[in-house]
Amino acid sequence: MSTAAPLLGIAGLRGGYGRVEVLRGVDLQVNPGETVALLGSNGAGKSTLNNVVCGIYQAWAGTVAFGGADLSGAHYTEVVKAGLIQVPEGRKIFPNLSVLENLSLGSFTRARERRAENIDKVFATFPRLKERTGQLAGTMSGGEQQMLAIGRGLMAEPRLLILDEPSLGLSPLLVEEMFGLIRQLRATGLAVLLVEQNVGQSLEIADRAYVMENGSIRFAGAPDELLRSDELRRAYLGL
Ligand SMILES: Nc1ncnc2c1ncn2[C@@H]1O[C@H](COP(=O)(O)OP(=O)(O)OP(=O)(O)O)[C@@H](O)[C@H]1O
Ligand SMILES: [Mg+2]
Repeated sequence: MSTAAPLLGIAGLRGGYGRVEVLRGVDLQVNPGETVALLGSNGAGKSTLNNVVCGIYQAWAGTVAFGGADLSGAHYTEVVKAGLIQVPEGRKIFPNLSVLENLSLGSFTRARERRAENIDKVFATFPRLKERTGQLAGTMSGGEQQMLAIGRGLMAEPRLLILDEPSLGLSPLLVEEMFGLIRQLRATGLAVLLVEQNVGQSLEIADRAYVMENGSIRFAGAPDELLRSDELRRAYLGL
């Protein structure tokens, strides 16, 4: 682990819906250039954590520091401006807008002046999107929509990219492709927080891993440690 200040530092984060507490004091860090896996069963609170960190829901308590700035309680536009970009669970692209329009919206708040060159970069990464610039996003296949969602995230020149279940609903071949892409992003030095049900493959590419259970972090450490310990695997991964 790096001794420098983390890129993202979450401490004591609490939050929920109405009066129902979901996040019960979460501590998590992502260091510059790191790929960090966030694992945990359905309903553990992973997506809630992402959405609270990104300012979509208000935290009840705790702090979020990013790139040396205090983003606790910040509005999501401030979070995006700072370069903390989430590709949300379920893609959330605009189905009635074209591929090109969806990508353009990715640079609405950040890196707008480099929109044209970033569109070219996204097309270089995802040639399939280039063939479909005018197609309505909602008519694309699930895999293509996921690529579009990630491409839109990249349009904002993220300093940290949060990917919430990027391989969800993809065929085994596309899952492979997705993990290949995450490796590619990692190789560029981009920090990635990867939320995944695909435990084996996530732990293979992650520098560090967290396991969340019932709104708390139960394990934080090296992927190897998690994979090697029968007890940890049984307890947290159902393997
Ligand atoms: N908008 C909402 N309103 C009320 N409760 C919610 C809302 N979103 C999530 N929850 C609840 O919060 C808890 C945590 O959900 P969350 O989506 O964060 O889990 P998760 O770890 O992302 O699960 P999954 O792996 O299935 O995506 C669940 O009990 C869920 O029902
Ligand atoms: Mg989720």
